[in-house]
Formats: sequence, C-alpha cells, structure tokens
Amino acid sequence: MADSTPAPVIAIDGPSASGKGTVAQRVATELGFHYLDSGALYRAAALVALEAGTNLENESDIAHITMNINVIFDGEHVRLESRDITDAIREERVGVAASRIASWPKVRAALLGRQRSLRRPPGLVAEGRDMGSVVFPDAALKIFLTASVEARAERRYKQLMGKGLRANMAALLHDIRARDARDSERAVAPLQKSAGAIVLDTTGMPVEEVVAQVLARYKQAPQVP
Ligand code: DC
Repeated sequence: MADSTPAPVIAIDGPSASGKGTVAQRVATELGFHYLDSGALYRAAALVALEAGTNLENESDIAHITMNINVIFDGEHVRLESRDITDAIREERVGVAASRIASWPKVRAALLGRQRSLRRPPGLVAEGRDMGSVVFPDAALKIFLTASVEARAERRYKQLMGKGLRANMAALLHDIRARDARDSERAVAPLQKSAGAIVLDTTGMPVEEVVAQVLARYKQAPQVP
C-alpha cells in the first residue's frame, strides 16, 4: 500500500531580514529537502503589479494578478515564465509593495494552493510569515526566528551592498520597522509566533549555529522517524 503520510515540513517564520532565507536554504540542503521562499511569491506579484502600474490598494486587481502569474523556482533563481526576476524582486521598493499587497485576504488565498503544492517527498523547508500558522499547520517543526531591528537592518544593508544595490541604513531601519508593523498588525495571517513554534533569537548568532539548532530540533521532533 502506498504511504499516505504527507512529506514532512519544517516551517520557519519570522520578521523581515531575520535570516530566515539563508537558514531555511541551508537546512534544506543539509536534509536534501525542497525549499519554499514564500516571500518570493508575494514579491513576484508585487513586481508585476508595480510594473503594470496597478493600484496596490485594489484588492481584486492584485488578486487577479497573483492568480495568473507563473512563478518558477529554479535552483537559486526565481523566474516569471522565462524572465529571471531573482534580483528584481529583492529591491526594497518591491519588498515594501509585497508587504502591502500581502494584507489582502484574496491575495493570500490565491497563493495558498501554490505553496501547498510544493510539499513533496522527501520533505520541505518553507519560510515566510504564516508557514506554521496557516499554510502548514501540521508542520513537523515550527521555528520562529527573530533578531533585533538593528541587527536585521545591518544584515539587509550588507545583502543589498553585496548585490551592488543602493542602500541607506536610516531608510532601511525605517522600512523594517514599518514592515514589521504592517506584517504584524494585518487582520489576516499576521506575523506571529504560532502555537508550538520554537523561538530562536539570532541577534549576534552566526548562521551556522542557527542552522545547527534547527537541525537538532528537527531530529528531536516527534513525527521524525
Ligand atoms: O520574506 P520577504 O521579506 O521576502 O517577504 C516579503 C513580504 O511578503 C513581507 O513583507 C510580507 C509578505 N509575506 C507574507 O505576508 N507571508 C509570507 N508567508 C511571506 C511573505
């Protein structure tokens, strides 16, 4: 008889620039699991909306865009059909727009099935804001990563400079605070520690240590054979 147990999920949630992406990718590589960057889906929808000049306050129009985009994860690259949008979606203006459109229930609903369809054997590491609370409530392990606003702004600064993009520390601090408030205060699927999530404060913690802690917790998780 075929095994009907769904593939295990490690849900990693947390605020902007908390290091979720790097940690989730490394954990996925270590375990040979698939990886879902759910923020990239919101960012891709935001990019298309910005380029089309769509009013970000128009929930139906944005939901329509979100339902009709075909985002393809191809290794380290993110594509929209054949167009490589890996760098374009990392721009700060796209992140800010993504945070705005992510508060629309219809936009979130449009992405739910797409996110769940990426759950495949041998397992999935999914990162975002509502992986443990809404998208994969039965995740084998739920992690909530945090770090101080200053540490996160510094990480984002280095990330942007490393990519040759423009960055301004004061503006980044302001943006991260505003995005924290918007992501945490929205009515639908707000950023919050879900029940059963383990909190890891990564301020001053090297990424290797965070990865090691997540892997150790996963090995102790009850559903893991
Ligand atoms: O993780 P990120 O910074 O790439 O995400 C961009 C925005 O998308 C973030 O500000 C909020 C939104 N988002 C969300 O609401 N839910 C998710 N699961 C992932 C991202």
